[in-house]
Amino acid sequence: MSSMAALIDRKGFFLSIILYLLLSIPIVSGWSDTIVSTIPLKDGETIVSSSGFFEMGFFSPGNSKNRYIGIWYKNIPTRTVAWVANREAPVTDKSGMLKVMNSGVITIVNGKNTILWSSNTSRTTQNPIAQLLDSGNLVVRDKSDERPDNFLWQSFDYPGDTLLPGMKIGKDLLTGKENYITSWKSDDDPSPGDFTFGCDLHGYPHQIIKKGQIVQYRSEPWNGIDFGGISVLPQNAIYTFDMVFNEKEVFYSYKLINSSMISRLTMNQSGVAQRWVWADQVNDWIVYFSVPTPDGCDLVCGAYGSCNAISFPKCGCLDKFVPKYQNEWNGANWSKGCVRSKPLDCKTDGFVKHANVKLPDPRYSLFYRNLTLVQCQKLCLKNCSCMAYANILKKGGNGCMLWTGDLVDIQEAPSFTSEIYVRLAFSDLGVSGSRKKKSKMIPLIIALVVGMTISLGLMFVLWRKWKTDSVPKGEDEQAGNDTDQLYANESQKEDLELPLFNLSEIAKATHNFSFNNKLGEGGYGPVYKGVLQDGKEVAVKRLSKTSNQGLDEFKNEVICISKLQHRNLVRLLGCCIQGNEKMLIYEYMPNKSLDYFIFDESRRKLLDWPERFNIINGVARGLQYLHEDSRLRIIHRDLKASNILLDFDMNSKISDFGMARSFAGNETQANTMKVVGTYGYMSPEYAVDGLFSVKSDVFSFGVLVLEIVTGKKNRGFIHHDHHHNLLGHAWILYQEGRSMELIDANLSDSCHLYEVLRSIELALLCVQRNPEDRPSMSSVVVMLSSEGELPQPKQPGFFYTEHVPKDDVSSSIHAPNSTTAMTITLVDGR
Ligand SMILES: *[C@@H]1O[C@H](CO)[C@@H](O)[C@H](O)[C@H]1NC(C)=O
Ligand SMILES: *[C@@H]1O[C@H](CO)[C@@H](O)[C@H](O)[C@H]1NC(C)=O
Ligand SMILES: *[C@@H]1O[C@H](CO)[C@@H](O)[C@H](O)[C@H]1NC(C)=O
Ligand SMILES: *[C@@H]1O[C@H](CO)[C@@H](O)[C@H](O)[C@H]1NC(C)=O
Ligand SMILES: *[C@@H]1O[C@H](CO)[C@@H](O)[C@H](O)[C@H]1NC(C)=O
Ligand SMILES: *[C@@H]1O[C@H](CO)[C@@H](O)[C@H](O)[C@H]1NC(C)=O
Repeated sequence: MSSMAALIDRKGFFLSIILYLLLSIPIVSGWSDTIVSTIPLKDGETIVSSSGFFEMGFFSPGNSKNRYIGIWYKNIPTRTVAWVANREAPVTDKSGMLKVMNSGVITIVNGKNTILWSSNTSRTTQNPIAQLLDSGNLVVRDKSDERPDNFLWQSFDYPGDTLLPGMKIGKDLLTGKENYITSWKSDDDPSPGDFTFGCDLHGYPHQIIKKGQIVQYRSEPWNGIDFGGISVLPQNAIYTFDMVFNEKEVFYSYKLINSSMISRLTMNQSGVAQRWVWADQVNDWIVYFSVPTPDGCDLVCGAYGSCNAISFPKCGCLDKFVPKYQNEWNGANWSKGCVRSKPLDCKTDGFVKHANVKLPDPRYSLFYRNLTLVQCQKLCLKNCSCMAYANILKKGGNGCMLWTGDLVDIQEAPSFTSEIYVRLAFSDLGVSGSRKKKSKMIPLIIALVVGMTISLGLMFVLWRKWKTDSVPKGEDEQAGNDTDQLYANESQKEDLELPLFNLSEIAKATHNFSFNNKLGEGGYGPVYKGVLQDGKEVAVKRLSKTSNQGLDEFKNEVICISKLQHRNLVRLLGCCIQGNEKMLIYEYMPNKSLDYFIFDESRRKLLDWPERFNIINGVARGLQYLHEDSRLRIIHRDLKASNILLDFDMNSKISDFGMARSFAGNETQANTMKVVGTYGYMSPEYAVDGLFSVKSDVFSFGVLVLEIVTGKKNRGFIHHDHHHNLLGHAWILYQEGRSMELIDANLSDSCHLYEVLRSIELALLCVQRNPEDRPSMSSVVVMLSSEGELPQPKQPGFFYTEHVPKDDVSSSIHAPNSTTAMTITLVDGR
């Protein structure tokens, strides 16, 4: 006051006296909301917030005689104390006073003027006052500074057992100070009791109740809307709440929707956090909800256990887990939890989804914002200590959480809406189909199969020989000069440095085209195995004399493939054109074609993942060569499993160039009136509009990769849940992060999950609806051999099974043992 007086003149002095008196009156009468430094608040006096919501003064809790400074609701008949200043330092008689010191701190002193309690401030001000706000916040500020946030100190920074609207629980990231509410010791003693309720920031913020240092209850991580597990609330018309994140702090707080309602959150003395609402009708507080719920499901089941309150016993092990100590577990002592029945090996592990769960304790977890479920899964796969992952955010983007420790406190109930993907050994994944292990008996199986085939074949041949003599007639007729007909123009003829074989040579090599040598029946004629005079094994593709249709394809193939050489393309050794006979002679592929293996229940087992991956890589390189590196630049147009042949070492070689088209260097897309190809492998723009480009081959490649991974045909794929084809199915699972359910169960021992999942993702990139979105084959080759992040695939083309009209099936060139993968020709009606 003295410094102030020095600043004002005589006239002003009187004015200030009047002002002083005016200010003093309400304090004395108890109707002020402020305390000034010159006049302390004595026991028996109170201040009241401006609208009369809250009142502050000395009080005695319960049966205690001790005096405390408290803030309570003014308009509620049952005295409800929301905040206590000197929780641990009561005044033992009625001589206490609350003083505002010139330094800007407020103190509680006893009759001997001993300071029992004091507030803190980091700065001082000239004219401090203490004011009780309508929010229930007691603040210290400069008298002339009305800014709402420029307080020297506020009680809201030091919550007691009650969280009022606008208070925060959380953490100050700069100072590390944590805010939480603490139960009273007893109704008579407001000093801090055992229980606290606050926010824990491990992984992602969640609410916890602790008894001392021991966690009693935890909510699910904040999901952008609520805390999952405690969102069992009906539509809440009383308050809104939020979790606030900024550089300075992370905190939870709530606001009342209608400020004339009264609600508070408390931590009670037996460890229950309760949300109260004042009900005028009953003139009492009612509990709106409380946590933990009394079902006793919190933290009882141990690691990898799962609590379900309505089942008996309430603890169970997660699927594919077993109790760690069976006897203890049986005796309802569940704390030791469960263990995997099959150990993880890190490389081939996968995940299984659990829905309607409360997410496990995020204490050992990592959080990544904006990662999709698929990216989240990849991240988890890469880290051997990652036990589970989930997308925990329901609002505000994706939030990938990885659990890197044991999964504790999982609960199940329909009210929980979270989904978690738990890591399991591959053999535990429940991939449909046989889970038989690839045994060491495989050579024996092969021997048996081969033996049986040979003996059956022999019997059949003998039977045929007995029935009819099948020596082909007319094979030795003199050749008409069909070679000229084939090489319609002379320059083409010169280009072809293709050896011509003699018909008699071929007839001899194939035992006169005996049935025994027949490898299969293609669209334009049979294919025979032959052994040339020098012992070289060949495959002879013979254009059937009755088929006119094959002639174009035949020519096309000769022209195309004779100019191509690549280790992943089947090699054409020569041709034979004599009389009506037209034949192509290829290198022999002892392991037939890919479809022979992957679509056969038992032979599928013989192809392990490294072999399949090698096949995928081979096809990719072969296609890349066709598209980009070969002399001709060729679009194959009929890539499918039956056109992928396998050599002795199971290397893949693309065959069948009957449909292939070459294109000029600057040409990227062509249009055809005649759509040829095979259902299930054709890209939408090609099948529907007749537009083809290298990207139509990329599409077929994508289909092929999915077939190799799954062992299922795209066309004819049936799923009981939906009507999508394999592409659609793969897409659905991919989006849900469940791609591993696609994997052929026979791969369980050999699969490198990261590689397989990458192949699936790559396949989905290849079958995208829009051709421009599909990668080129050279990028495919790069993606297959690198580890970088792949782009996010968009929806595939031809999602549904019966998209293409069934029409005009014809002209399959080479489809041994295959009835479904027929090459078709669609004649476009435009
Ligand atoms: C005041 O600050 C000191 C030191 O920063 C701290 O130890 C003390 O607990 C604080 N007191 C209150 C009431 O916040
Ligand atoms: C708020 O609540 C009061 C009393 O319950 C009621 O009279 C008033 O209409 C409410 N206001 C709004 C905006 O809902
Ligand atoms: C705490 O709340 C629970 C649940 O409402 C109640 O059963 C218990 O009696 C309360 N404890 C005390 C000390 O009031
Ligand atoms: C559970 O078993 C452990 C021994 O592993 C024992 O110490 C503990 O007391 C048991 N708890 C109960 C509730 O039986
Ligand atoms: C997450 O994605 C959203 C929308 O895609 C974007 O606005 C936000 O900035 C991203 N957040 C981070 C942390 O990358
Ligand atoms: C895997 O997770 C553990 C546990 O959080 C972490 O310490 C380690 O750095 C992670 N490893 C990789 C490669 O991310």
